[in-house]
Amino acid sequence: MPVCPAILPRPQEFGPGYPDKALPIAKYCKEKLVNLDYVPVDINKVFLEIASQEISKFTNSITPIQAPFAECSNKIPDGFKKDTLVMIGLTFMNFPSGIIIPLMKKIGGKKARALIASEIIKPKSNITSILQRYELPEARGVAFGPLKALGVSPTDVDYKVHFNNSRVEMCFTLRRSLELPKKLAAGSQIVTAVSYRYTEDELRRSIEPYFANCDFHWANDRNTVVAILS
Ligand SMILES: C[S@@+](CC[C@H](N)C(=O)[O-])C[C@H]1O[C@@H](n2cnc3c(N)ncnc32)[C@H](O)[C@@H]1O
Repeated sequence: MPVCPAILPRPQEFGPGYPDKALPIAKYCKEKLVNLDYVPVDINKVFLEIASQEISKFTNSITPIQAPFAECSNKIPDGFKKDTLVMIGLTFMNFPSGIIIPLMKKIGGKKARALIASEIIKPKSNITSILQRYELPEARGVAFGPLKALGVSPTDVDYKVHFNNSRVEMCFTLRRSLELPKKLAAGSQIVTAVSYRYTEDELRRSIEPYFANCDFHWANDRNTVVAILS
């Protein structure tokens, strides 16, 4: 992604993982002697620590917040709600755009810019090849996490990946009835993870109602886009 000179000095990053989108911004701000207040938000403590450690090479002002995105607003210091860039990267694909974009706007304040990233499908893309990645045992293992936390055994479920409602759905079907804690009958289907896929037109239609300016930066193969929105 080319570093945008108009980037604002208060990135609030949702789900940074390894903060590959924030790093070029942090580097740019350090070179230009712009003070940067970095606010990573993640439910996972390990990812928060990784993001904070990487960005600490470029700024000392880091405010990690361990919370679900929907509950982080009141934990962000008021002074950090000005000149803000709210970033979510590819984690954008895990939420309906109509939920996550208004949340990003609410958290960043009225004048916030937003950065999202998404894989893009062509109108006649081969969905089967997209699903294959999610059928791998590693992907099944990640998707099984919430059921494992509820005490479900891997032998109690069958796993299948579907493409429904413009999204990949990672779905488990119960082989026998279980108390989770509500009783669910054998054959019940539980979707534990989703990943939305848009064509370029669909992505534009999903974000344009919320922003006057949508600046798209494409990967060379045009399969992935980073958009800076204001
Ligand atoms: C795939 S990683 C992000 C990778 C990186 N941001 C990128 O776009 O390339 C997703 C991160 O989002 C976090 N996450 C997912 N849903 C979340 C939620 N609702 N609230 C807080 N953190 C969440 C996960 O813990 C994880 O660290």
